[in-house]
Amino acid sequence: MISPKREFLQRTGHVAMLLACLSLTISGCQNGGSSGGSDSDEILIGHYGSLTGSQATFGISTDNGIKMAIEELNAAGGINGRKVKLVTYDDKGEAREASTAVTRLVTKDGVVAVIGEVASGLSLAAAPICQDGGVPMISPSSTNPKVTKVGDMIFRVCFIDPFQGKVCAKFAREHESLKASKAAIVTDQGSPYSVGLEEEFEKSFVALGGTVVSKQTYQAGDQDYSAQLTSIRAAEPDVIFVPGYYTEVASMILQARKLGMTQPFVGADGWDSAKLGEIAGDAINGCFYSNHYSQEDPSPKIQDFIARYKAKHNEIPDALAALGHDSAMILFDAMKKAGSLEGAAIAAELAKTKDFDGITGKISIDAERNAVKPAVMLEMKNGAPKYVATIQPGE
Ligand code: PHE
Repeated sequence: MISPKREFLQRTGHVAMLLACLSLTISGCQNGGSSGGSDSDEILIGHYGSLTGSQATFGISTDNGIKMAIEELNAAGGINGRKVKLVTYDDKGEAREASTAVTRLVTKDGVVAVIGEVASGLSLAAAPICQDGGVPMISPSSTNPKVTKVGDMIFRVCFIDPFQGKVCAKFAREHESLKASKAAIVTDQGSPYSVGLEEEFEKSFVALGGTVVSKQTYQAGDQDYSAQLTSIRAAEPDVIFVPGYYTEVASMILQARKLGMTQPFVGADGWDSAKLGEIAGDAINGCFYSNHYSQEDPSPKIQDFIARYKAKHNEIPDALAALGHDSAMILFDAMKKAGSLEGAAIAAELAKTKDFDGITGKISIDAERNAVKPAVMLEMKNGAPKYVATIQPGE
């Protein structure tokens, strides 16, 4: 028989355990998700991104940028007096995880809008879920044209790859430090971003009178690029274009230098991570990539953002942090104007966005729900990206 005292202890023990479990679930909300949130008056928005894996800086920076925007909004009174709360899920940079995360945001958490993804392949995997659920999705940084073609609920706040590919090709062909006539291209064949950008670069490079002398492929996660690099070395290109993500790009360039190849590499926004210089070290000096913003831009809006971000995270924000912030701000602007939290009402206001003053420039959403904005070219010097040029959309 159990004594009353022991029974009491057992019961309180159970209650304590139950409470511990509950608080675990609730504190897991930040990155693990929640349903409903603690305060029913809060408005939930969702973010899915790579917080771990080989693209981890993409998701982490974006999340930091979104959270900064939410703090600013809530401090200024929220959306018509209601605070906004973020639910973030880690998709590990994997398409299946991205779909699961967005399904949960839309069907369980009941978010009013979704921000994500960075990688075009992951945005493409999850966009149909937002479209079917009638929940607006804003990609901060997916540049493949197909992303917003999924439907009228899907938006982005960045330029697209037909423009970015042209920017890179023109730069490789015409910039005084390159003047390349022969290019090699290395493509991540499993990435819609990489494949699309490769096509755009080649089209523009050839139209400008250049020749593509070698085309090679790899898979995300590959470690050894010696076969591709040996073929490229034999083709003697003036420049090597790699439309990939920073982890693979950094090790490829390291290996090229070990093989005695001295050609400059050119890439695009997928290179943008502090990890690029950390992994590649001196091997990447003199290489160029296109991006959405430059840390050196003297505009007070950019420098103020950098100072606030640095004070919080002790590092300079990359383009993803800036684009995450811009996506959230554009969403809040639309939510305020919509006068309702219905997906269709928010989407209608997002579509009207014009000359919004973002960190990454003036953002206007066009009829295809894309943003039309300039790009910058950066050069890697001593492990950090240095500003080289700005290229306007019409140029
Ligand atoms: N544009 C890339 C894509 O579509 C993602 C990216 C944007 C990565 C900006 C880094 C910086 O996949």
